[in-house]
This record gives sequence, C-alpha cells and structure tokens, in this order.
Amino acid sequence: MHTTEELQQILDTAIQNLKFPDHPKQLYDPITYIINLGGKRVRPLLVLMATELFGEDANESIHAAMAIEVFHNFTLVHDDIMDNAPLRRGKATVHEKWSTNIAILSGDVMMVEANKNLAKVNPAFLAPVLNTFNATAQGVCEGQQLDMEFEGRDDVSIEEYINMIRLKTAVLLGGALKLGAIIAGASEKDADLIYQFGENIGIAFQLQDDILDVYADPEKFGKQVGGDIIANKKTFLLLKAFELADGETRASLDTWTAYKEFNAQEKVDTVRQVYDTLDIQYIAKASMNNYLNKALAVFAQINVSDEKKANLLTLTDQLMAREY
Ligand code: IPE
Ligand code: IPE
Ligand code: MG
Ligand code: MG
Ligand code: MG
Repeated sequence: MHTTEELQQILDTAIQNLKFPDHPKQLYDPITYIINLGGKRVRPLLVLMATELFGEDANESIHAAMAIEVFHNFTLVHDDIMDNAPLRRGKATVHEKWSTNIAILSGDVMMVEANKNLAKVNPAFLAPVLNTFNATAQGVCEGQQLDMEFEGRDDVSIEEYINMIRLKTAVLLGGALKLGAIIAGASEKDADLIYQFGENIGIAFQLQDDILDVYADPEKFGKQVGGDIIANKKTFLLLKAFELADGETRASLDTWTAYKEFNAQEKVDTVRQVYDTLDIQYIAKASMNNYLNKALAVFAQINVSDEKKANLLTLTDQLMAREY
C-alpha cells in the first residue's frame, strides 16, 4: 500500500506523461494550459485510493485516474463558459484567454482524450468501467443543465438543489471511487458502498464550494469570489437566505436578485451582508456535516481493515477543511 504522498507522486508523473497532439495548436494548447494549472487533483487520487482500499496496487488504475482528471478539466472549461467565469486556478479561464469557440472545441476533444485513457484499462474490467464512466458523465451534464435552469427560477427547493449538486458534482466523486473499486476487483456491494460514500462526500464538497464562493480569501481561492451571487446561482446559501429573510433583508434580497443591471461588487457585498445577518454560513456548514456523517456511516459498512481505510479518511477531513 502506498502513502498519500506516494500516490500524489504517481499521479504527477502520469499527468506529466499525458501527451496531446501539437496541431492545430489552438485546439491542444488549452488542454496543456488547464491541466498544468494543477488544481487539487482530488478525483484521480480517489480512483487510486479506492483501488488500494480493496487490496490492489494503485498503478492498476492509473489510466482510469487520468481519464477522470482529464474529464474533470473538460467540465471546468465548459462550466466556465456557462458561468461566465474569468478566473480558474488563479489564471484566466480558457474562453477568456483564447475564445468561447476554442473553449468549446478544446473541451470536446478533452472528452475524447479522457476516453482514450479509459481504453487503456485492463480489458477484463472494461465493460463495467465504461458503464460507470458514462453514467457519471451523463449525470454531470444533467446537473449542469439544472444548475443553469435554476438561475432563472425563484421557486427552487433545497431538495431540488441537493439533487442538482448530486448530479453536477457528487456523481463524479462517487464514480471516481467506484472505478477504483471495480479495477481492484471489489464486490458489487463494496463498489456500491464506496460510490455512496463518494456521493455524500461530493454533496458536502459542493456545499463547501458554495460557501467558499462567498467567503473565500481571493488569493487562495483562485476563482472569482462572488460569482455565484452575481449570477443568481441557486446555491444552498441563497435558498436558505430566501427561506429565513423577512422585512428589510427580504426586500434587499428581492431587489438585488431582480436587477438586470447592477454594480457587481455592490451586489456581492450586499448579499453577503444578508447572509451574515442570517448566519447562513453556519447553517450551510451544518448541512455539510450532515452529509459528511452520512458518508462516514456508509464507509463504516465497508468490510476492510482500519489501516486500509486511513488514507481516505484523512483525505475526507482535509477536503472538509479546504480553503480553495
Ligand atoms: C471544482 O472542483 C468544481 C466543483 C465541483 C466545485 P475542484 O474544487 O476539485 O477544482 P480543482 O480541480 O481542484 O481546481
Ligand atoms: C461545478 O460547479 C460543477 C462542474 C464543473 C461540473 P461550479 O460552477 O460551482 O464549479 P466552480 O465553482 O466553477 O469550480
Ligand atoms: Mg463554475
Ligand atoms: Mg457551474
Ligand atoms: Mg462553485
């Protein structure tokens, strides 16, 4: 079994070894650009950790891990177009640096590159690996569609929101873990349990992302702080605020979310002030904790030694405390 540092080293090397064609340059340069900006590389680490949890060597699932990370980067490139986001990992987004059309097409070809990595998986596991990968990718698209639709609605329930983030974010964390489990030859029951663990961690992860979008230190965050508020994203924070606000705070929320034209900084500051007044951050953290606990309860049902479980538990703690 490898330590987390060793797994990260294995990932770094594999990412360095990813090769993309040279021409047309404007199709492939954005891929190298976005991937070399790094990021936390949580999802490929989850693939490797799940493989070792179920007793196989992490190197067996390295291609699946690469497929997941390339796919994730593709979703970010397209997400940043949809969200009109200027910054990613502290640098200009692909559509800002090149153009929207280039970001669309580079993203498309990244999906193909992800598949090429998947095709290198041990053929014995290829059918379930493809099924899991496809279900995950489809779920992400469904979640992203709902995310966009919700921007224009004012009657989104918390339940609908949780389902939306389950799809856009959590299925990928679950899917990454499940791929690792499949390649380790885990039982269907265990593969399903680790998937459920990942889905609950993923929901907590997106809740944290929503909190950071409002409260992160811009230096550490690497994304535009306040982007969700500017776009009227139906985050947990905004939905809770609408639920709890009355009188002046309610009027302020109604006014600022209705403006077609506004000063972005002023909107962000005002809505954040409403969140502060209503203690929304703490309510969101409580919800995060609830999903974390669900995840841990599922994880406890997996019948492997505590020693084998330690890496994933430590990573889970780190994710819940992340600042970017
Ligand atoms: C960003 O994911 C997209 C979300 C689902 C919130 P990460 O926060 O894992 O981004 P990177 O890969 O570390 O940059
Ligand atoms: C991310 O949701 C979901 C996907 C990229 C599929 P966000 O839009 O909140 O992610 P960030 O904050 O831009 O990373
Ligand atoms: Mg976004
Ligand atoms: Mg988005
Ligand atoms: Mg976000």
